[in-house]
Amino acid sequence: MKPLNNTVEQFTESIFSTMTKMAMENKAINLSQGFPDFDGPSWVSDLAVKALKEAKNQYAPSMGVLSLREAIAHNYARFYNYQVNPLSEVVVTNGATEAIFCACLALLNPGDEVVVLEPFYDSYLASIKLSGAKAIPVTLKAPDFHFDIEELKAAISDKTKLLIVNNPHNPTGKVFTAEEIKIIGDLAKKHDFYLLSDEVYEFLTFDVAHKPTATYEDLKERTITISSTGKTFGLTGWKIGWAIGPAALIKAIHNVHQFSTFCVAHPLQVAMAEALMKMDEYLVDFRADYKKKKELLVTGLKELGFNVLSPKGTYFAMALLPEGENDIDYCKKLIVEKKVATIPTSAFYIKSDEGSRMIRFCFAKKDETLLGALENLKH
Ligand SMILES: Cc1ncc(COP(=O)(O)O)c(C=O)c1O
Repeated sequence: MKPLNNTVEQFTESIFSTMTKMAMENKAINLSQGFPDFDGPSWVSDLAVKALKEAKNQYAPSMGVLSLREAIAHNYARFYNYQVNPLSEVVVTNGATEAIFCACLALLNPGDEVVVLEPFYDSYLASIKLSGAKAIPVTLKAPDFHFDIEELKAAISDKTKLLIVNNPHNPTGKVFTAEEIKIIGDLAKKHDFYLLSDEVYEFLTFDVAHKPTATYEDLKERTITISSTGKTFGLTGWKIGWAIGPAALIKAIHNVHQFSTFCVAHPLQVAMAEALMKMDEYLVDFRADYKKKKELLVTGLKELGFNVLSPKGTYFAMALLPEGENDIDYCKKLIVEKKVATIPTSAFYIKSDEGSRMIRFCFAKKDETLLGALENLKH
């Protein structure tokens, strides 16, 4: 038989699947997977039931249901004073993951280079490679996960087409400072490359405000903002995401979307359009609940002697391992001996070996799950 696609043949099982399988085999409490072990709000599910019953069950418009695009645009204006035209500057996708994939295919040609700030979410590399482009990593250095400006400048060449920034940042919990985004933005303008800003954790910040990259001076014209409702509503299985940006870029992203998935589940879009208009009320408890969960896990781990790096955003916390420990062995040991599953962070790096010194905990879990994990870790 002839070989399959060369790039796809390199893809292997993700570390998340490996750890989850191991957690199940060992009946461990799973703090590895990046999604809640509790359901999303029932009032939002009720809206989906209503939409299903109202027979919104045929293909949705490929760009996304208009009421949803309007709600997305409304929220960017409402929360960030960022004006987006719902008719031409928003495309609804199957989660942020599809938006990232379509954006890479829409922008990149074979031979182009994409600067990625490692550690990074694993779909970036796959999307870049499937576009025939090359990822150029720049390492965010623990414990504060700053980048070295000289390393960043050295990563940029005349082949640089795109830089991907994830803010708030998975897995580190970092929220980029205004100064850092300005440095990135100035380089983008100087060397004329695009920015893809993955902001799926935009509403999960603790005591710092989120500011979309596109709202920094003169960055709107070269920035694609990607987000989704998975994390914000704890409904990761709905896979409602979007890309927003200048009309020409969104048109190109839509051109890929229309031939990959065409559209997103119609009733879920109708429901989410309504839910997004109720964010003010919803976010109060959402933010307070996650802040409590973060405190519970971070304080508990600190009391147990873990060197935890308290996150400014996302629902993850990283811990630095004791000298001489390696992340993969340590995670396996935690699963087998303590019955707690976490993620070894080396999987998020392609250049530096810093990841082998850290593990990631997810606190999007019921309080009883977090307390159970802390109890297990005690013994
Ligand atoms: C940084 C980052 N981007 C994108 C995604 C995927 O988002 P979605 O579920 O909307 O595809 C995730 C999910 O874990 C993520 O952590």
